[in-house]
Amino acid sequence: MTGETGHALRGDYSRKRADYTVDQEWDRYSAAEHDLWRRLYARQAALVPRYACDEFRAALATLDYGTDIPRFDAINRKLRPATRWELVAVPGLVPDIVFFEHLANRRFPVTVWIRTPEEFDYIVEPDIFHDFFGHVPMLFDPVFADYMQAYGKGGIKAHALGAIEMLARLYWYTVEFGLIETPKGLRTYGAGILSSGGEIRHCIESPEPNRIGFDLLRVMRTRYKIDTFQETYFVIRGFGELFDATAPDFSPHYAKLRALEPLAASAVLPADRVYHRGAAPPRAA
Ligand code: PHE
Ligand code: CO
Repeated sequence: MTGETGHALRGDYSRKRADYTVDQEWDRYSAAEHDLWRRLYARQAALVPRYACDEFRAALATLDYGTDIPRFDAINRKLRPATRWELVAVPGLVPDIVFFEHLANRRFPVTVWIRTPEEFDYIVEPDIFHDFFGHVPMLFDPVFADYMQAYGKGGIKAHALGAIEMLARLYWYTVEFGLIETPKGLRTYGAGILSSGGEIRHCIESPEPNRIGFDLLRVMRTRYKIDTFQETYFVIRGFGELFDATAPDFSPHYAKLRALEPLAASAVLPADRVYHRGAAPPRAA
């Protein structure tokens, strides 16, 4: 995930390079950390067949990273030939512009540290499990891989235009919490969902949240909450739709959106393509 946090960042930033990358130092993970990874992986992998989109499932099945915390260089040997992306190690969250520059160059920043056992069910900042389990399989899909790079380039532009807040909502409601309509029903491709033991069920099965058809301006107008399950999920009909909708220049969109009040995370509008209207307020995550 990306975004602003109100507190000091976790992670050791003392040895970062100018682009915020560090060495993974895989040998420094403890046996207990590898064990925690295995348990997190086993829980999520069991939920994936039911709730994840086919693209995610297919990539996960070829990756085989359930036994130990993965080595970034080993994954890069598979990822580079697949979609020309590579993983880079970072100490934790990085400044927006640094993040965008990496994505624009097909480098995905992955946090090196893993959560504590107490955070098995819930963590606010992205750790290696979120970044790796949630994001990396989707980078093997050619269309999604191109979307991520386009997003990075768009981020550099939005930064210059002072429009990051609007663009960040797009990332949140697609890359982190997106749903996709499939012949088998709704599935997820969002990393924030795929790495969460509770939200992966909730987003598809709970009657509480709204599920609304993806519309670019609607999404960029909608606020989000970072510390509860989402109140609204936006549904794409395919990665081609997402890529095509986001290809045009956003400058006119930003100008238009600046004149409008943002919408609450729970809003449902008359023009929305509603799959499901939420029945009750969301539970705390
Ligand atoms: N087309 C967008 C722009 O002009 C860039 C972008 C692409 C943003 C894909 C997000 C996702 O800013
Ligand atoms: Co993320």
